[in-house]
Amino acid sequence: MLRRLHHTQPESFAFTPANLEWAKGQISKYPEGRQASAVIPLLWRAQEQEGWLSRPAIEFVADMLGMAYIRALEVATFYFMFQLQPVGSVAHIQICGTTSCMICGAEELIAVCRELIAKTPHTLSADGRFSWEEVECMGACANAPMAQIGKDYYEDLSAEKLRELIARFGNGEVPVPGSQIGRYAAEPASGLTSLKDHEAGKSAHSATVALAVKVGDTAKRIDGTEVPILTPWLKKSAAPKASAAPAPAAEPTPAAAAPAKLAEVPATEAPAKAPAKPAAPANMVGTKPKALGRARRFQPDDLKVIEGIGPKMEEALNGMGYFHYDQIASWTPEEVAWIDENLPSFKGRASRDRWVAQAKLILEVGVEEFLVRAKTNDY
Ligand code: FES
Repeated sequence: MLRRLHHTQPESFAFTPANLEWAKGQISKYPEGRQASAVIPLLWRAQEQEGWLSRPAIEFVADMLGMAYIRALEVATFYFMFQLQPVGSVAHIQICGTTSCMICGAEELIAVCRELIAKTPHTLSADGRFSWEEVECMGACANAPMAQIGKDYYEDLSAEKLRELIARFGNGEVPVPGSQIGRYAAEPASGLTSLKDHEAGKSAHSATVALAVKVGDTAKRIDGTEVPILTPWLKKSAAPKASAAPAPAAEPTPAAAAPAKLAEVPATEAPAKAPAKPAAPANMVGTKPKALGRARRFQPDDLKVIEGIGPKMEEALNGMGYFHYDQIASWTPEEVAWIDENLPSFKGRASRDRWVAQAKLILEVGVEEFLVRAKTNDY
């Protein structure tokens, strides 16, 4: 199968603060100069956050690791576990189509997916809530046929059972993973004939299913706040302090998103010279405005044109992912409050100097006219 980037891409990607801290923890595992070794966990976390890997996400990870974009792209396109196109917002269903499952009815499961979700794999259902694909052996052959739905295995499936599961996921339920015909684990379908001693004391679920039920993230996007994120080698938790509220994950905007700006960058162009520095854990005030991994087409606007922004401030803003007048012009009052609180050493400057009004005027009249008006504070 040809694995290519999806034709429609979101404009930008950023880790949630908690996922960013987690990513920094992963990078710290490796010696200086070997940060690229963290590429797979970081790509995976980006996918867990958004559901799929967009080009901005791949480039964001490459920037964090100081890698050429093509190197990160090679990894993302090589491994089938990375989804290069949007997946269902409720669940992505992976039907095993290898020998055991095929013999036991995988084709019927695929027929159900074609009927209820989309005729072709890797295609969103009409309501955007489901997608499916056929995958190779998932190692649960004794419980064939099976499917991975979200993060967990659903085994001993039949066409009817899969229909029911899809309907229940669609209703917001998360059905208990594991065998769907009541098998405890992978014992013979006709029941045990030996080694039966454990049966009297066994719990309702096998250890695997019990853990899946306990963790409860079968169909959930991961924003980094679900489980303690530990970096024992740093002698601390990588999760932000309780006071740090994670910013909402950037919504994947598969259908509505504008075509990727990055697509216009020649493939031979070098990666961004100054990758955006990961933002510091955000203080819990306002809402973090959407940030970019780096300036569009590597051409940041001269933010120093805005009254109150000097070279240091511009550097700080760029480091946080803000490079353009239109980004600043679009900030809401809550976002200005967040910037006011989180710009290191420059608290309160965005609202005091009315950056949003200035940026809007620049967009409206151009830099030259703005500079004339700025002398009289006419904005
Ligand atoms: S053949 Fe389907 S899990 Fe192995």
